[in-house]
Amino acid sequence: MRILMVCLGNICRSPLAEGILRSKILTDAVTIDSAGTSGLHEGELPDPRSIAVAKSNGIDITDQRSRKFKVADFDNFDLIYAMDQSNYQNILDIARNSDDECKVKMILNESNPEENLNVPDPYYGGDKGFDNVFRMLDEACDNIASKIQ
Ligand code: 4NP
Repeated sequence: MRILMVCLGNICRSPLAEGILRSKILTDAVTIDSAGTSGLHEGELPDPRSIAVAKSNGIDITDQRSRKFKVADFDNFDLIYAMDQSNYQNILDIARNSDDECKVKMILNESNPEENLNVPDPYYGGDKGFDNVFRMLDEACDNIASKIQ
């Protein structure tokens, strides 16, 4: 099983989603990565506020570097989780066929099925936004982890 977490910049939400899911999956049989649809922060570390909220929850995400989502990710991953509806649409826009499209899911549907809720973009918000994002992703990743192991 190969799982990709996707947001816009790959510095705030999807690095947290990657780190949180990694912390819950104890087998090497699952590959977990993250990417951003924009490529605006290519090569950068996660946002310091994401690093901090992860650290305060016992998770180190400082080995991650931002990268742009690419078409080959449809071949390299089985499940692609979008953080919000805009990410979801941007990913679907470059899907080549229905197999690609079927891999793309809204991550909060794992905790709130069929509601298509967004993980709010915390980039322009305060630290409280990052705590909120952590809590939402933690709940969704609990459900992902319990389904795949
Ligand atoms: P992310 O947050 O998509 O959760 O990584 C953002 C990071 C950077 C920007 C927007 C959202 N930006 O506009 O640079």
